[in-house]
Amino acid sequence: MTPPDGTTAMRTHRCGDLRPEHVGEQVALCGWVARRREHGEHLAFIDLRDHTGVVQCVVDGAADLRSEYVVRVTGTVRERPEGTANPALPTGEVEVGDCAVEVLAEAEPPPFPVDKVGADAAEESLRLRYRFVDLRQERLQRNLRIRATVNAALRRAMDRQGFVEIETPMLWTPTPEGAREFVIPARLQPGSFYVLPQSPQLAKQLLMVGGFDRYYQIARCLRDEDLRADRQFEFMQLDLEASFVSQEDVLGFVTEAVLDATEAVTGARPGEIERLTWHDAMERFGVDKPDLRFGMELVELTDVFAGTGFRAFQAPCVKGIRVPGVAGEWGRNRLDGLTDRAKQLGAKGLVWMKVGAGGEFDSPVAKFLSGDEQQRLAATLEAEPGDLVLLVADERRVVQEVLGQLRLDLGRPPVSEGPLRFVWIVDFPMFDGVDDDGNPIPAHHPFTMVHPDDLDLLETDPLAVRSQAYDLVLNGSELGSGSIRIHRSDVQARVFRAMGISEEDAETRFGFLLGAFRYGAPPHGGFAVGLDRFVAILAGEDNIREVIAFPKTQSGADPLTGAPKPITERQLRELWIQVLPPPD
Ligand code: AMO
Ligand code: AMP
Repeated sequence: MTPPDGTTAMRTHRCGDLRPEHVGEQVALCGWVARRREHGEHLAFIDLRDHTGVVQCVVDGAADLRSEYVVRVTGTVRERPEGTANPALPTGEVEVGDCAVEVLAEAEPPPFPVDKVGADAAEESLRLRYRFVDLRQERLQRNLRIRATVNAALRRAMDRQGFVEIETPMLWTPTPEGAREFVIPARLQPGSFYVLPQSPQLAKQLLMVGGFDRYYQIARCLRDEDLRADRQFEFMQLDLEASFVSQEDVLGFVTEAVLDATEAVTGARPGEIERLTWHDAMERFGVDKPDLRFGMELVELTDVFAGTGFRAFQAPCVKGIRVPGVAGEWGRNRLDGLTDRAKQLGAKGLVWMKVGAGGEFDSPVAKFLSGDEQQRLAATLEAEPGDLVLLVADERRVVQEVLGQLRLDLGRPPVSEGPLRFVWIVDFPMFDGVDDDGNPIPAHHPFTMVHPDDLDLLETDPLAVRSQAYDLVLNGSELGSGSIRIHRSDVQARVFRAMGISEEDAETRFGFLLGAFRYGAPPHGGFAVGLDRFVAILAGEDNIREVIAFPKTQSGADPLTGAPKPITERQLRELWIQVLPPPD
């Protein structure tokens, strides 16, 4: 076993560990040449880097040492001469003197400087083409170690709670999570295909039928969807499922795991995770993944304008947000820009009002609002002099969407800032609108249990049906989702019917699951936490790419390996596949 101090046959210490207490010790260090500075005719300073940091080595005759050479340095730790200590560096009080250097491997000049500034200045595709160099920078070293810390803490928490880690297949069959799927041709069955799992959803439900009671997995999931800052083709979930549970039990398991992981990374355990119903989240924040790090909540004003003479406000819903203290910073041009943004988001317009020193509203539309309306508006919004107030009137969903987004545009702190604000969103609707054929679209997935009070609405008013689905949100990001599942074939059949999936269709697609349910399915429920997003937020990163060792570019390519690339005619033939020419 490697001792925790990193000692090996080749080294006595790690670069970043040297401190004044080591002064006088003979050390052997291994690492990469981060920087070389000439010092007089023969002497040179070498910054030697390994994953723990850098230390300065004073080398006699370093002419053949270049950036990123891999070297072994032996020498004596000494205090740096008076006035030359570097307080910005943990090893900055010491240096290694009288060094002998052995070159272990030469290196071509790095394609970009190996630090955050150098990597940030490089094109994304260059960073990924040379990811093995990029990974040496402190930021990625730190991020991937945070990731490992999170994984280890989650595993411990799940083990402690009696969950069994079980691997599920990668060569699988379609799972309905809503994304396009990656398809794998089956060589032994020409014309047939496996599908890479979008999640272990159906497999874990089968494990419940199989009596495992509590399952978890740090699972790879694959979805062929458009890549974004928080989306990759492949990503990891802490996936779990448990039998004989209520929603409360599942929230408890997940809370324990994510708080453990947070504590393992930050050293502090966040308090109890608060809860919002989906309905309240939409009303107060306009989104189902509210960022609770800041206020600026959506305020209900429909009543205030119930009898208004102002045409624009004669709408089913009027809401407003108050941006505290910024009125002075918003000139006409910026306000026009904001109005355009609101229209882009789907609003018919945007009313802005500045609150003057005496509490009066300064706005081109103020003259259309009665004194009473203005008074009630100010009181409801709790407006203060210097505030900017933004109002939208429309259908309720439009108002929520527009103001919810403006709130984020104007108030959302950067990812690296502020407290970690977890929140559970509960009581999601079962369906989220209808598709082009008029069939309700499941808000989570079709195996989600209907709220027990709403079962009968399935046939009469499906869009009003609540589900037993819940999300975990962290700082405005959807961290994970889950639900209590349907475990009875008859209820599942009713949900499929409500979705417009015929019995035959259901049988072809999910027959294996429905069939399994006929052999004794326990009531069960579960959850999946998106690990890439979780780690990115803990690491203060905007893009999950920064917490993945080998991510894909925005266009889904891997510049390092060149994937995806064509395969040979022979491979194609073996798979019974013919590539069609691209459409004109
Ligand atoms: P869902 O589809 O909501 O639920 O996924 C759970 C979480 O996985 C993360 N996630 C992603 N992360 C990175 N890239 C992606 N392309 C991506 N897609 C999803 C998100 C999301 O919240 N089987 C259900 C869970 C269950 O019901 O138990 C499921 O997969 O953080
Ligand atoms: P109009 O009556 O269309 O000239 O609009 C008068 C003002 O009200 C303009 O500032 C519009 O941007 C704004 N406005 C129009 N419709 C809406 C709406 N539905 N919600 C909020 N503001 C609106």
